[in-house]
Amino acid sequence: MYKFIFMKRVAVFTSGGDAPGMNACIRAVVRTAIYNNIEVYGIMRGYEGMIKGRIHRMESKSVSNIIQQGGTILKSARSAEFRTYEGRKQAYQQLKHFDIDGLVAVGGDGTFTGAKVFHEEFGMPTVGCPGTIDNDIYGTDYTIGYDTAVNTALEAIDKIRDTADSHNRVFFVEVMGRDSGYIAIQSGIGGGAEIVMVPETETTIAQVIETLQKGRLNHKSSSIVIVAEGDEEGNATDIAAKVMDATEGLDIKVTTLGHIQRGGSPTAQDRILASRTGIGAVEGLLAGKSSVMAGVKNNKLVYTPFEDAIDKNKPIEDELIKLVDVLSI
Ligand code: F6P
Repeated sequence: MYKFIFMKRVAVFTSGGDAPGMNACIRAVVRTAIYNNIEVYGIMRGYEGMIKGRIHRMESKSVSNIIQQGGTILKSARSAEFRTYEGRKQAYQQLKHFDIDGLVAVGGDGTFTGAKVFHEEFGMPTVGCPGTIDNDIYGTDYTIGYDTAVNTALEAIDKIRDTADSHNRVFFVEVMGRDSGYIAIQSGIGGGAEIVMVPETETTIAQVIETLQKGRLNHKSSSIVIVAEGDEEGNATDIAAKVMDATEGLDIKVTTLGHIQRGGSPTAQDRILASRTGIGAVEGLLAGKSSVMAGVKNNKLVYTPFEDAIDKNKPIEDELIKLVDVLSI
């Protein structure tokens, strides 16, 4: 299958914003390591725990009954200390103390940036799994947690539609995604949104007003504008205020979905992606890979160098943007 590299202890950690499916990924890493007769350790609170030596042995039963749970049993953090050389040196010393030969890092681009620098400085073999609701990582069609987040947003949008329709209202709904519009575009398409505002394409306030007014002329009983939190016109509250200032007679409300999108039981798709990339990460380490991310593209497990995963763009297909315009007439 793969050329076996001798490795006796690997450790897994989750870092950055948590994402549904991270537990399924931890489970896959732990069980794949044990299957290959490698000892496996869990690091608590990402790089923070690595620096402090919060590292413990994991067994197969440590990951029983977690595949369906949201959040991460290893907890997560964004570590300022790991951004310093001193912090990384301390982390390396802790890993050496525990005799760790390889790492699996589950997280997003911040996590991989840290892992890449760490590998360059200390040579610790590391393979990543893409864990973030944002779906902003190059080298994988989807990231772990994204599908669940989209479905959570969609459920909320459906509920907002009920009340919007009953009152003939316009709702601006803000979804997460940091600088990426993926959650916005897919939940917007699924929820039949009239407008989706994403950072990847420019939508002006004048265009928003024109679409909403056209909707009113067409006797639409509600309109939903999905706003990606990183949109260039501002957040949903800012955009709604600009529209209110420039129009009359529109009954406008704002809902920010927030961290609800980060929680909940992962969808089947996220559990499967997490399991595949978790296995892929351990098998990658055993095959001698390092500073790469295990992802799934066109339904195939692939490895992408961290620098590409971090730096390369993952644009939203124009076809998806157009779809909203066509279907919301
Ligand atoms: O990266 C995941 C994410 O949920 C983004 O969508 C959002 O911008 C950010 O994390 C929020 O971070 P925090 O939970 O630290 O406020």
